[in-house]
Parts: sequence; structure tokens; C-alpha cells
Amino acid sequence: MPTCMRTNGMNEVSLSKEPSVRKPEKFILDTTAFKTNNVILGDCLEVMPTFPENSVDLIIIDPPYSRFHHSDLDATLGDFKILEIYFRELSQQCKRILKSSGSAFIFCDYRTYPCLFYGVYSWLKPANLIIWRKDFIGPGLRFRPLHELILYCIMEDTKSPIDRHIGDIWKAPRVKAKNHPFQKPSDLFEIMIKNCTNENEVVLDPFCGSGESLIVAKKLKRRWIGIDISPKYAEIARKRVSEYTSIEEFCFMKIPKEEG
Ligand SMILES: C[S@@+](CC[C@H](N)C(=O)[O-])C[C@H]1O[C@@H](n2cnc3c(N)ncnc32)[C@H](O)[C@@H]1O
Repeated sequence: MPTCMRTNGMNEVSLSKEPSVRKPEKFILDTTAFKTNNVILGDCLEVMPTFPENSVDLIIIDPPYSRFHHSDLDATLGDFKILEIYFRELSQQCKRILKSSGSAFIFCDYRTYPCLFYGVYSWLKPANLIIWRKDFIGPGLRFRPLHELILYCIMEDTKSPIDRHIGDIWKAPRVKAKNHPFQKPSDLFEIMIKNCTNENEVVLDPFCGSGESLIVAKKLKRRWIGIDISPKYAEIARKRVSEYTSIEEFCFMKIPKEEG
């Protein structure tokens, strides 16, 4: 990981020379052994290198977008360039652990997209820029935001999405009851996972936050791995996904009513 940039566990990026992230005291589970259906507490750029090559089918990346920690300076284009180094390192790991038929989705916005594209380009093949169209307009000045961007990347043997009729604008309402301030709607994860993986394949979310993508993966009978640097969110994700029981499992557990 470049020493010049560390994410601080929320939606911010620190530019200090020294790593500014407090190291997690312990991992929830052993990260040296690749294990599916597991939430790992840690920095994804330290955890992902412990995964074997060609072991993952889909990676969903929802990193903190940029907000710079300069007390008295505005961010410059040079600052944003640091994101390129970060994404280059991240996508190098994605390329290593993805199967040749695999794919990746990366959430971004208008500021991070140019640097993200350059960082990703040497390792993964950007194939689409998807627009997540929200249900109502967000706060702010000027033209108020109604969308976010998602870069879709493929590998050399990636097949087309299973449903050939899906376009590149996905409508989904914002999440209301939030377990994480930047929780994304399950509808988006469902499109990604249903269309780019089959049952029992492996979905990795290295910035898993609330664990919403992991719950969708579990619901769709995929294997899943979540990573989060925040002890609070790694625990929330772990708890939420372990509590999720599919309708089928629930029906199995239902005690039949007695006759008469
Ligand atoms: C935008 S949020 C993800 C929200 C998630 N997609 C959801 O639906 O709940 C980014 C998450 O990345 C985590 N994070 C930041 N830097 C990280 C890193 N280097 N490694 C792993 N997780 C990190 C943060 O703690 C935060 O929970």
C-alpha cells in the first residue's frame, strides 16, 4: 500500500506521509487462510494479497470517495492523482485473485472516476460505466445529484451478463433504514451478482460496510467474503449476514400447525 494514502475507515482519504489508520487489534478470523462465507476485519490491501490466485468470481468495490484532509488548502489535481496509485494497487490485487472469467464493479463519482480509470486500466478491462439513478434528488447546491457511477470491469474470458436486456442505467431507491451511512441498495447488488455469477461461485466485497452485498450473495446461494477496516462495521456486517435466513430455510424450520 502506498504510504502516501490511507483510507480512514469512513468516506475520507488522508494524505499524510505516515499511515493514519489505526491498525485493527485483531482479525475476526484468520486471514492467512482463504475462507469463504467470512467477514474479515482489516485493510483490504493487506488482506487481499493473502488470497490465492484465481479464487474469486466477482468483486464489488465501494470504497470511500475522496475528501481531502488539508486543514488550510484545497485539494489539487495532484492530490487526486494519489487515487490513481491506490486504485492501481487495488486492481492489481483484483486481477491476481479474479478468475479469468471474473468481473468487478467499482462505485465512484465524477471526481474519482478519471483517476480510478487510469489506475484500473493496466490491470482490468473497463467495459461499461453504469449509472445508478436514485429515486429523489440529493442535498447540495447547483445541479443536485441524482446519480452515482459504477465502473464495470471484465477479464479476458468474462461472458456477457446473463440477462442481455439490462441497460447501463439502473434505477434503485436510496436505502432508508441504514446500518451504514453509505449503504447501497440491495437491488444494485442483486443485478451484479445474479448477472455475473452462478450459484456457489465466490463474491468478494473488500469494503463491505453494512454487509448488504454479502446478504444478497448469501440469498442467491453464492459464497461470499467481506472485508472492512472498521471494527464497528466488520461486526455489523458479520452479525447481519449471519442473522439472515433465506425464506426456504425459514420454511424448513416452520413447525406445521396441528390439525383440528
Ligand atoms: C462506502 S462504504 C461501503 C458501504 C457498503 N457498500 C454498504 O452497502 O454498506 C466504505 C467502507 O469501506 C471501509 N474501508 C475504508 N478503507 C478500507 C480499507 N482500506 N480496507 C477495508 N475497508 C475499508 C469503511 O470502513 C466503510 O465501511
